[in-house]
Amino acid sequence: MDMPQRPRRNRKSEAIRRFHRETWLGPQHLISPLFIHDKVEDEPIASMPGCSRLGPEGLLREVGASIEVGVNSFVLFPATPESVKTKAGEESYNPEGLVQVTLRALKERWPDVTLVTDVALDPYSSDGHDGIVSPDGRILNDETVEVLCRQALSQAEAGADIIAPSDMMDGRIGAIRSTLDAAGFTDVSLLSYTAKYASAFYGPFRDALDSAPKHGDKKTYQMDPANAREAIRELYLDEQEGADMVMVKPAGPYLDVISLVREQTTLPVAAYQVSGEYAMLKAACQNGWLSEEKVVPESLMAIRRAGADVILTYFARQVATWICEGVVSN
Ligand code: PBG
Repeated sequence: MDMPQRPRRNRKSEAIRRFHRETWLGPQHLISPLFIHDKVEDEPIASMPGCSRLGPEGLLREVGASIEVGVNSFVLFPATPESVKTKAGEESYNPEGLVQVTLRALKERWPDVTLVTDVALDPYSSDGHDGIVSPDGRILNDETVEVLCRQALSQAEAGADIIAPSDMMDGRIGAIRSTLDAAGFTDVSLLSYTAKYASAFYGPFRDALDSAPKHGDKKTYQMDPANAREAIRELYLDEQEGADMVMVKPAGPYLDVISLVREQTTLPVAAYQVSGEYAMLKAACQNGWLSEEKVVPESLMAIRRAGADVILTYFARQVATWICEGVVSN
């Protein structure tokens, strides 16, 4: 064939492919979400094979092993005993609460580690909602924001580097920013869950923490999966209110939203490959239907290509290990 343009020439060897690879993935792009509980032993999470609710020793082992392969950032999610859950989630700002104690322990052992905390009431709420539920079943915005501010402050006092509100209440970024600033925590960052969708992909996470809503769903605060433009509205508000970084969640099924947010902001963009995305990939790989060491890096590369700077993923340590071993090239 007479064909001067042959794109395949630029793909003919790994060396040439690497000349013009547009996206790359390294351990510094990954944040590892970890589940903790107040028991001694680790407890495997059935719907998330390979993940456990970690006791104090298991946590130190996991964090140590992750740091070895270059993953230095972690988000903590507590499984709170039913007995301390209340309607207003007071346990969320207990200075001796599980998250607060764990933050101090990790900072003492690894002062340079980056610790991210989740701000929302669901792990502490007897209703299983991210906010306070009124007697007639509404999620009370402004009352919730007050509690979230106390929660964020107590996490900052315990050593959190980045506070990540995942609750989707209106105005919480501004309120938390001014609470932190008034208390002198001007260096603590805010990573806002800007476009967090009311997604069924959070199912395994809610199993892990036993945090599913007891009544109703989260559609009056989390976003409608049908919407993308609404993400821009949330983004502008978060920017005005003082967010340092913005997040899209879930990640894989929402690559268009990641790309849209990327275009609309100069802030760093994070994406969360959530529990259901993990469970899907893991299940197929365990059945031998997909190859884990190929499909997992591909899923993360796609999220980076769409525009995410940093990715929260339960595969963080595994992928970083493959990168260190040269199994995955970048
Ligand atoms: C809590 C929170 C959720 C996730 C992160 N923070 C669950 C929810 O909103 O119901 C989900 C993460 C995952 O599925 O991996 N506000």
